[in-house]
Amino acid sequence: MTQTYPWWQTGVIYQIYPRSFMDGNGDGVGDLPGITSRLDYLRWLGVDAIWLSPIYPSPMADFGYDIANYTAVDPLFGTMQDMDTLIQQAHSRDLKIILDFVPNHTSDEHPWFQEARASRENAKRDWYIWHDPASDGGPPNNWTSYFGGSAWQFDAQTGQYYLHLFDVKQPDLNWRNPRVQEAMFDVMRFWLDRGIDGFRVDVLWLLLKDDQFRDNLMNPDWKPGDLPSARQEKIHTEDQPGIHELVRKMRSVLDGYGERVFIGEIYLSIPRLLNYYGEMLDEAHLPFNFQFITMPNWHAQTIRQIVDEYETTLPNGAWPNWVLGNHDRARIATRVGSEQARVAQMLLLTLRGTPTCYYGDELGMQNGNVPPEMISDPQGKENPEHSRDPIRTPMQWDSGPNAGFCPATVSPWLPLADDYQTCNVASEQNDPRSFLTLTRTLLDLRRSLFALTIGSFQSIDQDNNSCFVYQRQHNEQHYLVVLNISVQEQTVKLPGQGRIVLSTYLDREGSLDLSTLHLRGNEGYLLEKLF
Ligand code: GLC
Repeated sequence: MTQTYPWWQTGVIYQIYPRSFMDGNGDGVGDLPGITSRLDYLRWLGVDAIWLSPIYPSPMADFGYDIANYTAVDPLFGTMQDMDTLIQQAHSRDLKIILDFVPNHTSDEHPWFQEARASRENAKRDWYIWHDPASDGGPPNNWTSYFGGSAWQFDAQTGQYYLHLFDVKQPDLNWRNPRVQEAMFDVMRFWLDRGIDGFRVDVLWLLLKDDQFRDNLMNPDWKPGDLPSARQEKIHTEDQPGIHELVRKMRSVLDGYGERVFIGEIYLSIPRLLNYYGEMLDEAHLPFNFQFITMPNWHAQTIRQIVDEYETTLPNGAWPNWVLGNHDRARIATRVGSEQARVAQMLLLTLRGTPTCYYGDELGMQNGNVPPEMISDPQGKENPEHSRDPIRTPMQWDSGPNAGFCPATVSPWLPLADDYQTCNVASEQNDPRSFLTLTRTLLDLRRSLFALTIGSFQSIDQDNNSCFVYQRQHNEQHYLVVLNISVQEQTVKLPGQGRIVLSTYLDREGSLDLSTLHLRGNEGYLLEKLF
């Protein structure tokens, strides 16, 4: 009997930042009808599921990650009817829809917080995390916000501080309160009942905080210019005792709905990250694996070490996943360069496990240039060098005005990246060697070769330290991936014969002897092993 695999194991996830994907109503901001109008592109590209960053009513202090109503759609993005249409149109094309679920904090404009801050006696007071001032009147402890500064904000009316691990307009919910848990589980049911296929859960590892409010440790290696979030070792505000029980509860809400996916946003080292699969695989299906985003350098040996550590310590039965970029971290083409980004794309789409692709990365999009006076990201306002705006510039559809993202007569909410006239869907669709053609070909191969979707993974020892080589195998299918992680030409010596299925330059085919395998700088090969 053949084993069957759920869609989130064999499929590929595509992340859309709704403000930036496609403007359907001509106001310079992307929206749901815009996304629906581009579903055929996503089907053509060959992805399987779309994760939408938040689309709920929000004052947009953190562009939708500050939610004022969990069960509605912000008018900027459209209506509930538009959401239903998107779900229905996606499903009719066999595309899944994953929503962002942001349980750690609400907007300060959410009615729950409005009630909570009204008085200390309010029934919703304990839905958030309040604390008396320290003896000197200052914040209760040293906890810092991920965006910089103290994580505590004084509320003069009631004389206490409230906690916000992110922006001051994002008060943290108190997940130790069972009423909060139930209210948030109801939110999940609301969307699952409407037919969505799962959630990406925001900052899952931060939901619980130390109930004794002890100080975090300061990171002695932190220096000005580093991410503000790295300033402390967050021993009392992340990955706290009790979190796994909570994650299991969240999972059981999903389990009531059949094959839906639970993805968790978690920035932790591999051993601690893997705990979020759950001892009985009863927590997140896919705790996001950000190793390629957080790694110290892009060297072949570092990549191999990460992949091997992850693969060998993955719990039995747990399904791996890989991410190259998201709306919070510099684009891959900017981090490693446009040429090497093609190799990175081959890596992402040929490793074992579910890949998540950030919109525009399929084209090789670069970070945009957003002048300091235009910074709108709260993290960027605190620390301009860490602004996330450049990662969120409009999708580049064509070489026309505003890259086809919005009409020529309006300004897009963020300026277009400089390279949009060459790096765009329309130009790249017609170019047999473009980045987009590479991505689409890799997606096509991944879909058609069992070795790549469900096959085993084995990294291969060889003498060239600038290359990373691994094998994917399923029954008689044996494939090798040989990646040159450098700009120089390299030679790799491997046993046997092979057939080039794909070079990242899209210009080579044919059989060859693997005993002296030459790779151009920034070249990756997918090879079929011939015996
Ligand atoms: C997550 C999101 C990020 C947001 C933060 C607060 O890290 O990915 O964009 O600012 O949570 O919700």
